[in-house]
Amino acid sequence: MKEIAVIGAGTMGNGIAHVFAMKGYKVALIDIAESALEKAMATIEKNLDRMVRKERITEGDKLTTLAGITTYTDMKQGVAGRDLIIEAATENIDLKLKIFKNLDELAAPNAILATNTSSISITKIAAATQRPDKVIGMHFFNPVPVMKLVEVINGYATDPQVTAEIMDMSKGLGKVPVEVKDYPGFAANRILMPMLNEAFYTLYEGVSGVQEIDTVMKLGMGHPMGPLQLADFVGLDVCLAILEVLHKGFGNPKYAACPLLVNMVTAGKLGRKSGEGFYDYSAKGKDLVVAQQFA
Ligand code: 3HC
Repeated sequence: MKEIAVIGAGTMGNGIAHVFAMKGYKVALIDIAESALEKAMATIEKNLDRMVRKERITEGDKLTTLAGITTYTDMKQGVAGRDLIIEAATENIDLKLKIFKNLDELAAPNAILATNTSSISITKIAAATQRPDKVIGMHFFNPVPVMKLVEVINGYATDPQVTAEIMDMSKGLGKVPVEVKDYPGFAANRILMPMLNEAFYTLYEGVSGVQEIDTVMKLGMGHPMGPLQLADFVGLDVCLAILEVLHKGFGNPKYAACPLLVNMVTAGKLGRKSGEGFYDYSAKGKDLVVAQQFA
């Protein structure tokens, strides 16, 4: 299996294309917007340049990796003849169902259809196709070239042979795959999001400040980023959407999103991508600046 396609050229999609191309796969990177594809290729090049600077790869490796990625705005052309298609579009259930219905018609009959969803049911996505046995979750973590984990999620009907292939392929990428079942939040976000939500409540209830909460978890627990910085990095809208999936899926009030998070998302403060969340990213300096609201 050496020819794959990635749908969606955002942060996750370009990272996935990057890691596959670095391992010699021929990658079709597909997005409806030409501008998103251009931005994605520039990001991949920047991340490869960083690896060249750190002497992890050579300039030649960088050029071979870039040459291994072809961009498409036409899904039919992009997926033709590919063995594996990984969907990494926006986390929106209606959009994903539509993409999988199309993919089922356009992709080769034997192709595996994977989704990088962080919280939407694999079984539900698979049910939009005529090949639910070949649909699987392949959940990467941001930044994809750095984070070792791939959460491999079996839908209700996923063929164990398909799971075995995806586990092997993930190992071949230099990642560590972990197999999980298809229940709300899978394993990673079921554990991560309540922890982040508790950090939001700790701030909301005035127990401590933004920097203090992050310092507690960085220095006390050895986390590379504090929970509020990590929430900004992931996107506060994404955190809210996943908490809602957990809350609805389990019907347990312990997953109810903190009202502060809801207000911030409503106000358009989405974290790093919008320029402000718990921290203010408008100043480009190296030090994190706490957003005015919490300073
Ligand atoms: N692409 C490629 N490489 C990158 C990168 C990127 N975007 N960002 C950083 N790196 C590399 C650097 O080159 C460096 O490599 P080296 O250590 O081998 O020399 C390494 O990552 C560390 O980078 P820096 O020294 O510049 O920065 P930090 O030490 O601050 O590390 C970090 C940055 C790796 C992002 C670290 O802070 C971290 O691990 N944070 C936690 C990230 C995390 O938890 N991600 C998961 C989010 S949850 C998710 O994605 C699931 C979703 O469903 C919600």
